[in-house]
Amino acid sequence: MEVERGDRPIVRHVSRVGYVTKVIGKRKSGRVKRNINMKPPKVPMALQQLFLTCRDVFNGPGTIPLPHHVNKLRLILDKMKAEDVGLSSDLQFFNPTNVVKGTPPRVTHTTIYECTNFSLCIFFIPASGVIPLHNHPGMTVFSKLLLGKMHIKSYDWVDQPAVSNDKDVHSFRSSSQLGLAKLKADSVFTAPCNTSVLYPTTGGNIHAFTAITPCAVLDVIGPPYSKEDGRDCSYYKDHPYSSFSNGFKYEVEEGESTCYAWLEEIEMPEDSQMDGIEYLGPQIMETSC
Ligand SMILES: [Fe+2]
Repeated sequence: MEVERGDRPIVRHVSRVGYVTKVIGKRKSGRVKRNINMKPPKVPMALQQLFLTCRDVFNGPGTIPLPHHVNKLRLILDKMKAEDVGLSSDLQFFNPTNVVKGTPPRVTHTTIYECTNFSLCIFFIPASGVIPLHNHPGMTVFSKLLLGKMHIKSYDWVDQPAVSNDKDVHSFRSSSQLGLAKLKADSVFTAPCNTSVLYPTTGGNIHAFTAITPCAVLDVIGPPYSKEDGRDCSYYKDHPYSSFSNGFKYEVEEGESTCYAWLEEIEMPEDSQMDGIEYLGPQIMETSC
């Protein structure tokens, strides 16, 4: 998912989301410093453990964590709470008094940590906010819903030719970037719930989030998006299987058509741009071993 940087000023985390411990002040020059009158927040053990495990588990682009590493990371995330990243359900973001109707609420994003092998991010999605269908090329992603209730829809590409030899069908597919995908998840999740994991070709690599109540989602992404390394984010619109099934050779079993959809690659929807904000929660300690 692309996060707007540069043109749009970074929004202060405290003004958009809030944090339990506010210990970071900003100089006029824009450099960040700690308030010397306050002790830095103690790193919650779970967050530090998550970071250290990520360092072991993610070996860089082109690799997928081993099954026992996936389980280790999943167990840590399953136990993690909003408080571990400085959040609380009492914060105003999760209890909005004025909900502006008519305009799609913007999603906010913050990065706890990022290196070439992995990143730890939080997405704040206001009620009725949407992160549209998008992919994670070559990535393994762990998603942990920390707070709120949201609908998740996810797909995986069908791993076999989805088009006939018909010339028209070929040109239709290549011009509109249409492909067949199988539905992996289409349900509502309420925090606290277990971690979901997606892989480069399985587990629901293409997914969409729609917040029912204000949500906070912690994502562990390895490796992170990188345009330069061919891991750019693409967006999709899903069409029912019945919309284009005529002319395509891929036949799904009777009664299973609702498990499939055609995904059309689209430009990033304008109203889905995100605001990047500063992370003000507990900081990770980068130890050498
Ligand atoms: Fe995603």
